[in-house]
This record gives sequence, structure tokens and C-alpha cells, in this order.
Amino acid sequence: MNTFKIQTTVKAYSYDELPQEYKQLVDVAKEMTKASYSPYSHFAVGAALMLSDGTVIKGCNQENAAYPSGLCAERTAMFAASANHPGTAMKALAIAAYTNGAFTQEPVSPCGSCRQVMVEYEDRQKEPMTVILYGTDGSYVIRSAKELMPFCFVSESLKGLKTN
Ligand code: THU
Repeated sequence: MNTFKIQTTVKAYSYDELPQEYKQLVDVAKEMTKASYSPYSHFAVGAALMLSDGTVIKGCNQENAAYPSGLCAERTAMFAASANHPGTAMKALAIAAYTNGAFTQEPVSPCGSCRQVMVEYEDRQKEPMTVILYGTDGSYVIRSAKELMPFCFVSESLKGLKTN
């Protein structure tokens, strides 16, 4: 029997410490919470996705009376990017969430479905997508989406090949 550990490296920054381009991306994600359509959860999430050519794609969560028909902020941004800028790599994705009159203290954590979608695009573009999670107490920067989703299921997994 072998035991092994999987490690995720998370860099924690105060807002002021964030590298300038991430700070700008966080600002867009925060601004995008205002466009969120979240009348059911009252949890407004904004996303800002920087592409390799510098374009910033914006997203926010979109809810629906038929609850499962809604979509998270991260996926609205990634799907918009893939649809409108096909073949342009997704370099960095910032997320912020606003509820009960304030941005969350803790960095907002993407759901499993969004992580799955991040990993698919990252795998496809063969370069890392950095994820920036904003909270008022500090932000987390994770270099690659795959670090948020070890043992991920990707296209090669369908062939039964080793992917991790
Ligand atoms: N949500 C996001 O948009 N992104 C996340 O990372 C977490 C959750 C949305 C989905 C739903 O509209 C609301 O937040 C509450 O779950």
C-alpha cells in the first residue's frame, strides 16, 4: 500500500499586495456583482476572465425560477469567452461575491461544476488558468485550475489514460 499526498499551493494576498493586473481583474469581478441576477439566493457573484490577448470577459451569476436552469458567474464568463474568442487562451479568472450588503470576508470558492469547466479549458489550451478568489480579509491566487481539482476527469480520461 502506498500513501501519497496531493498539494495545492495557494498564495494569500491582501488586496493592496495583489499584482496590479490581478487587482484590476478583481475590481472588474467586484463591479460585475452589480449585474448579477440572483433574486433567489441573494448571493451575487461576479467574474472577470483575462484572455491571452488582454481582453477581459465579464460574467455574473444568472438564476432562474427553475433553479437548476441558472448558471454560476464563472461559467457565464468562460462560455462567453469560448464562444466569442475561440482559440484564445484563458489566462486568469477573478471571482468576487456580494451578499447581505457586503463582499464576502472569506475568498469565494468556485463550485465543483465550475472547476470542472475550468479544467477542461485549461487542459485544452495547454497553459494554466490562474484563479483569483477575492474576499475582504484577503485574496487567494491559485496558479492553475487543476490545482483546485486534482484527480480531474478530462478528455484523455475517456480513453482510460493517466491524466494526473
Ligand atoms: N455561484 C456562483 O456564481 N459562483 C460560485 O463560485 C458559487 C456559487 C452562484 C450560484 C447561485 O446563483 C448562487 O451563487 C448561490 O449558490
